[in-house]
Amino acid sequence: MKIRNILTAAALAVFAVSTAETPLYLDENAPLDARVADALSRMTTAEKVAILHAQSKFCSPGVARLGIPELWTSDGPHGVRAEVKWDEWDQAGWTNDSCVAFPALTCLAASWNPEISALYGQSIGEEALYRGKDVLLGPGVNIYRTPLNGRNFEYMGEDPYLASRMVVPYVRALQSNGVAACVKHYALNNHEANRHNTNINIDDRTLYEIYLPAFKAAVQEGGAWSIMGAYNLYRNEHNCHNSRMLNDILKGEWGFDGAVISDWGGAHDTDQAIANGLDLEFGTWTNGLNNGRTSAYDTYFLADPYLERLADGRADMATLDDKAGRVLRLIFRTAMNSHKSFGSLCSDEHYAAARRIGNEGIVLLRNENNVLPLPATPGMRVLVVGENAIKMMTVGGGSSSLKAQREILPLDGIRAALTGIATVDYARGYVGDVTGEYNGVTTGQDLTDSRSAAELIAEAVEKARNADYVIFVGGLNKLSGQDAEDTDRAELGLPYGQDDVIEALAQANPRTIVVNVSGNAVAMPWVDKVPAIVQAWYLGSEGGNSIADVLTGRVNPSGKLPFTFPVHLADNGAHAMGDYPGTLRDDGIYDQTYREGVLVGYRWHDTRDIAPLFAFGHGLSYTTFAYGELTADRSELNADGTITFSIPVTNTGSRAGAEIVQLYISDPVASVMRPEKELKGFEKVYLEPGETKTVTFTVGADALSFFDADTHSWKAEPGAFKALACAAADDIRSTYDFTLR
Ligand code: BGC
Repeated sequence: MKIRNILTAAALAVFAVSTAETPLYLDENAPLDARVADALSRMTTAEKVAILHAQSKFCSPGVARLGIPELWTSDGPHGVRAEVKWDEWDQAGWTNDSCVAFPALTCLAASWNPEISALYGQSIGEEALYRGKDVLLGPGVNIYRTPLNGRNFEYMGEDPYLASRMVVPYVRALQSNGVAACVKHYALNNHEANRHNTNINIDDRTLYEIYLPAFKAAVQEGGAWSIMGAYNLYRNEHNCHNSRMLNDILKGEWGFDGAVISDWGGAHDTDQAIANGLDLEFGTWTNGLNNGRTSAYDTYFLADPYLERLADGRADMATLDDKAGRVLRLIFRTAMNSHKSFGSLCSDEHYAAARRIGNEGIVLLRNENNVLPLPATPGMRVLVVGENAIKMMTVGGGSSSLKAQREILPLDGIRAALTGIATVDYARGYVGDVTGEYNGVTTGQDLTDSRSAAELIAEAVEKARNADYVIFVGGLNKLSGQDAEDTDRAELGLPYGQDDVIEALAQANPRTIVVNVSGNAVAMPWVDKVPAIVQAWYLGSEGGNSIADVLTGRVNPSGKLPFTFPVHLADNGAHAMGDYPGTLRDDGIYDQTYREGVLVGYRWHDTRDIAPLFAFGHGLSYTTFAYGELTADRSELNADGTITFSIPVTNTGSRAGAEIVQLYISDPVASVMRPEKELKGFEKVYLEPGETKTVTFTVGADALSFFDADTHSWKAEPGAFKALACAAADDIRSTYDFTLR
């Protein structure tokens, strides 16, 4: 980075001497479009094509002759990935490429706190800067449609409004560092099974209401400088060169002025890549994770084959200039931004940020008889059970795998927090995944244990009988087939016989607390048998500390679920309608129809009256909150007007805490089927004991609208509406009836 800035300055100096005048494209005070046009006017056709594709696994060339530097990308989205070799997936073997691992994006979404999202974007942006990256491959905002999607942990949940509000601050704060966000995976990449050959059939209303809003917000409000095309197909065209997604919607309707980057190996055809909106091609001849072809860059779809088409007239210069212009804009905004700082890596501030994000995102799902927080009783005996208490989770899961400088394990965090108060013992309970390697990064942990399931349970039960509290830390992990890229889960249930372990522990000790580490909903057949359940996500470097903070009450939990936990898989709309993971066609493509339409997540549960295990928006606190009456400044609203709702919320307990107040809108009578209610506002409000604050939400007709596919526009139908102030999707506290005139 430092070298790069010096080079840019050097290029400026050279031009200043040789032409006596700074070329326009190097003048950072000049309008961006003018700089782009000036640079294009100086570039040869070959130079323009050269900047449209990779020159290594993660880097694309600039125009050395003009002092335009190369562009360095990196995964994303939870930390800055370790360096791989120039054009192989093997580790480069650097010793200075570790990072802080931040909590997974599901945890960020569970904070329901846009300020925390800005902290995330700022912190990861500083790490990316220090590591010399121009584009961070993230954040991801694909909607949580099925709990089997192996990649849900990299996304922001099931609701388009929540995901929109949470992605915007991340993108803005990240880019304020001069590092581009590359929002992914655009679009409809809602499961991983057959991701390269699944074609999504979806109606326009569902597309615009559920699956596009977070991308649109990232582009229009966040100002994202780049976006990543998804692997799958839509309307039988791959999303990396999809005429409707990229040309019509992204660049047309939304006015996106940044660059479309292919997912690694997501481009398949030169003519489509030229015509259908792809700007920058990466990872061709690879599956994105490991298989590849060395030094194949000239054979990329947007390389020599493009030059041939330009030479014989099959391709035109205007399209090339548009693509090259977008890539130049991305380089000017990032690599050639001379105002950016050097960033910082693995700083105390970044660890503190990671811990804070974790603290705000952990969700207390159940807490009968206030078994939590753990009391500070001297001499107390605590037993920790479970593989996830001792397993590093920052390695694995696919491209978001990290080489974390450090990772505090749950057992270590709990031990540290209880030092001098309790004795902490440990029992393995079950053996799951004893490996610890991804893409050449190893955890260095040896988790081998050859005892049988019966022996492990017997040991845990025996110890549990003598403990005051049992903390079971289990859940999923980052192994293929669980929370990992390129595969989906096979079932909703917990793997490795964990249900048996939990049942046995619950019988042995009534104070058994379950901490579920996962990026996905899991089945909990034992839900009523344990007094407390904590949803802990993948929390990154400070995971063990964040978990201990919440268990001990140093932090009062304030997260709420960004997606529904169904009791059974069949309670989920996508699975109830039976078209997952699609039907195999003769041409090897799976057709997947989103038959549940707009009824995704809580929209399905509410409308079909199916009780969830834990609802969207659910999360408890160590204090209690009372909601007053929902009121509004008017009872009738004009189509161009707004209505402001108010509701007082009081902390009625004895601890300070934060409540996430949710506003849903319901349209009981409409010309189309509408979900029972939809989230249109939320606020996380911090309250001292006894304190009351009034939360207000102002909405306009857009919050009352549905997408009318016939007219291709949003429509709010006059008539009666209901506003609902809720503590969760299944916990309505007060309602207000109003009318749209
Ligand atoms: C993933 C992307 C990632 C890219 C580069 C692909 O396999 O789908 O999310 O950014 O690889 O590692």
